[in-house]
Amino acid sequence: SKAVLAYSGGLDTSIILKWLQDEYECEVVTFTADLGQGEEVEPARQKALDMGIKPENIFILDLREEFVKDFVFPMFRANAIYEGEYLLGTSIARPLISKKQIEIAHQTGADAVSHGATGKGNDQVRFELGYLALDPDIAVIAPWREWDLNSRTKLLAYAQEHGINIDNKGKPKPYSMDANLLHISYEGEHLENPYAEPEEDMWLWSVSPENAPDEPEYITISYKNGDPIAINREEMSPATILETLNTYGKKHGIGRIDIVENRMVGMKARGCYETPGGTIMLKAHRAIESITLDREEAHMKDELMPKYAKLIYNGLWWSPERKMLQAAIDATQENVEGTVKLKLYKGNVIVVGRKSDVSLYSEEHSTFEADDVYNQKDAEGFIRLNALRFIIEGKKQPERIKS
Ligand code: ARG
Ligand code: SIN
Repeated sequence: SKAVLAYSGGLDTSIILKWLQDEYECEVVTFTADLGQGEEVEPARQKALDMGIKPENIFILDLREEFVKDFVFPMFRANAIYEGEYLLGTSIARPLISKKQIEIAHQTGADAVSHGATGKGNDQVRFELGYLALDPDIAVIAPWREWDLNSRTKLLAYAQEHGINIDNKGKPKPYSMDANLLHISYEGEHLENPYAEPEEDMWLWSVSPENAPDEPEYITISYKNGDPIAINREEMSPATILETLNTYGKKHGIGRIDIVENRMVGMKARGCYETPGGTIMLKAHRAIESITLDREEAHMKDELMPKYAKLIYNGLWWSPERKMLQAAIDATQENVEGTVKLKLYKGNVIVVGRKSDVSLYSEEHSTFEADDVYNQKDAEGFIRLNALRFIIEGKKQPERIKS
């Protein structure tokens, strides 16, 4: 058989590659994606060649623009947050990786796909729901659920035995990490005690708020159809927008979180995340929506948001219900346009202004000064009718309504 492996070029997926060749006796196609993780992807080519992969079976793709435009931005239109904190940086990347793996499988005539996620986590579910949604006949090989290399020690021994280069420049990577343009995640190691504070040198993508500049910095973000299109009035591609916001966020200590989350498989897991640009985007998007969305439309969107976030977390990007919610969310974004002014300061994203040509904010209506568009007397009947139930209950069931 022939399998397309999601291959980072790192130690774990190199071992999987070898294992697929030796134990599974299958021809391996490697797929390495640049999702903006900040590591070179080209070295994966030589590593794959060294392991006997044919040049035509090595795929290295730059997916940064597609990732941000077709996955991150649609998700941000929903203001998605899982369990009140997590901006879903890993969750949203998985459907795209699945999609590309299936495309490559079809291109190369492979009948299987493989990934390096463990049998304890969310990622296995996300990858595999994606595979099966996009190709019901594909075979899935999940080595972590099959092999007996169930510890770090056994893994390293296997690598040594099979001549796999364990070059970790001195020390092994301590945390289980995942990174892309939206975020970087840290799990495992001493984070496994949820009361232990992360060491400062764990955080790679932002300075700590206490070390951020003492001077605030102002930026503007401009929106069109609910997506950011320009920073400081300079138009940029989706990936460049996020990259630029990451740079601002990093400098000002923005977007660190430390949470215990509920995984799909039933356990709780402690994770730390840095989402510098995403944290800025979320605030800015809410600010532009605050002047361009109708009240009830905005409130209903907020009610749908946790459901939408859970779908993304649970790997249901390709589901009919995600598409249904996406269509509803996208329909609200037609007039979400204009500019938001933000102040970045020591871990804070502070909205200080918002404007739009189609703003629903009406100064003549909301002013505390005199106006001639709003009749204050109208409010009297409005309030009496809203109170009608209370007036009747107050007469018929006085004790109950007062208690
Ligand atoms: N817990 C986060 C999530 O489920 C991050 C997972 C990170 N994945 C990884 N392979 N290190 O989305
Ligand atoms: C993994 O098991 O590969 C990482 C953690 C997760 O998927 O939730």
